[in-house]
Amino acid sequence: MTQTTKNRWADYTILGLSVFLIFCLLFEPFIELPNLVSWLGRWHPLVLHFPIVLLLIAIFLGLTGKPVPRLLLIVAVLSTLITAILGFFLGMDVPIKGDLLFWHQLLGGATALIAALWYGLDAIGLEKAMYTKVLQVVLIGLIAFTGHYGGMVTHGEEFLAFPTEEPDDKIPENPIVYTDIVFRILDDKCVSCHNPNKQKGELVMTSFDKLLEGGEDGPILVAGKPEESEMIKRLHLPMEDEDHMPPEGKNPLQENEIAILEQWIALGASDTIRLNQLPESEPLVSLIKEMMVPDPSEKWAKLPKVADSTLQNLASDYLSVSRVASNTEALNVVIFPPPEYHPKTITDLKRIANNIVALDLSRLPISETEISVIATFANLERLEVDKTPITDSGVEKLASLEQLELLKIYDTKITDKSISTFKKLPNLKSLYLYKTEVSENAVADLKKEKPNLLINDGIDKETQAFFVATDSVINP
Ligand code: HEC
Repeated sequence: MTQTTKNRWADYTILGLSVFLIFCLLFEPFIELPNLVSWLGRWHPLVLHFPIVLLLIAIFLGLTGKPVPRLLLIVAVLSTLITAILGFFLGMDVPIKGDLLFWHQLLGGATALIAALWYGLDAIGLEKAMYTKVLQVVLIGLIAFTGHYGGMVTHGEEFLAFPTEEPDDKIPENPIVYTDIVFRILDDKCVSCHNPNKQKGELVMTSFDKLLEGGEDGPILVAGKPEESEMIKRLHLPMEDEDHMPPEGKNPLQENEIAILEQWIALGASDTIRLNQLPESEPLVSLIKEMMVPDPSEKWAKLPKVADSTLQNLASDYLSVSRVASNTEALNVVIFPPPEYHPKTITDLKRIANNIVALDLSRLPISETEISVIATFANLERLEVDKTPITDSGVEKLASLEQLELLKIYDTKITDKSISTFKKLPNLKSLYLYKTEVSENAVADLKKEKPNLLINDGIDKETQAFFVATDSVINP
């Protein structure tokens, strides 16, 4: 007798919760939830594991022809309904749902209601009927798909929902201003709230087209007119203003990031223009170039450790080796011409090959043996081999220095043959070429291929004097 009263209690609760869930799903747009309820919703991700496990156990028993304990079924169905309702509360925090969330909610709701239906069939003694088994099979599918979409909502929105415009870490040499710079800023600071799954203010910033579409109040940017663009206006509002973007408490934009967005809009908000298509005089050019300088501490974070004792052992009266900054493994090596030079001075540096980021060999009588060793210094960024006997075949060996940014090779015997090597160095930014046999035509050709490369070819006497004056070890 007590058994039936207990079950009746369960019957009514399950029926009541099912009706409430249907009501929620149907009338969602008209429901405004109090704070407590949206707090309850946050339990959804935690609670959801119970119904999955319990339902699957119950289904397993049912499908293998074993009796499903009544209590198990009650707890499984109740927890499914509660999870679905909590999930609905949680979803209320998101004003406009993306597809993923929509499907997740629909499937989750269906799972709960079909589980309730199974309970109903079981209650009227149809637990062994064919359609009860069909329901159980359908439930397995529903659980799987609900979980799949749920996983994408929580973990996947960044990498599953819009993979096409995900930028890679490094800003390319000649970036597309929108894709490589502007989108990166938006992606970093805005997209968490303005994406297909979470369209705050009905604004989506995950693609250029969506950005142009704007939000609930229409377009947010006016090409050529940053001061009239809603997006920029909001960045300039005082932090406390509730319209300020990103909202208070979120990581705000840096001054230079705001300036970049502004200048980009001022120049017409193009999605195709590249850095080198902008006139050098545009403020946007220097803003972007500043941004492209990688943070050195990050760049050198992966260098192998070197002990201070190793540095002391290598150092001599003619060799200075020092850390570029006190807490880094990046080393700066300067070798002064000793009275009696021996190649070993350089070949001994093999021990710290990966740590050397700057190497000054000006005026040393180096041969190709040493150059072959230098060519293995994979992290070398600055190399000075001016006034050395280096030749074109030596330069050819240096093509492996992918990190090389600065090369001083003036006052040497190199010729036009070396130009092809310079073209190959992907990170080369400045090249000191004067007093070599390189022809003006070859320099012009190099400039065409690498428009951002700063070449000092000695044509301008004034700059030449400047570079000579600032060279650390020039003693004419
Ligand atoms: C923490 C979430 C969040 C972040 C991050 C965020 N926004 Fe918003 N944004 C909102 C909300 C909520 C609204 C709707 C309320 C409103 O209009 O103020 C909104 C609305 C807007 C609107 C107005 C859309 C319209 O048509 O009404 C613009 C423009 C905007 N955001 C730009 C940005 C920019 C640019 C960033 C990045 C710098 C950003 N948002 C980052 C939450 C966010």
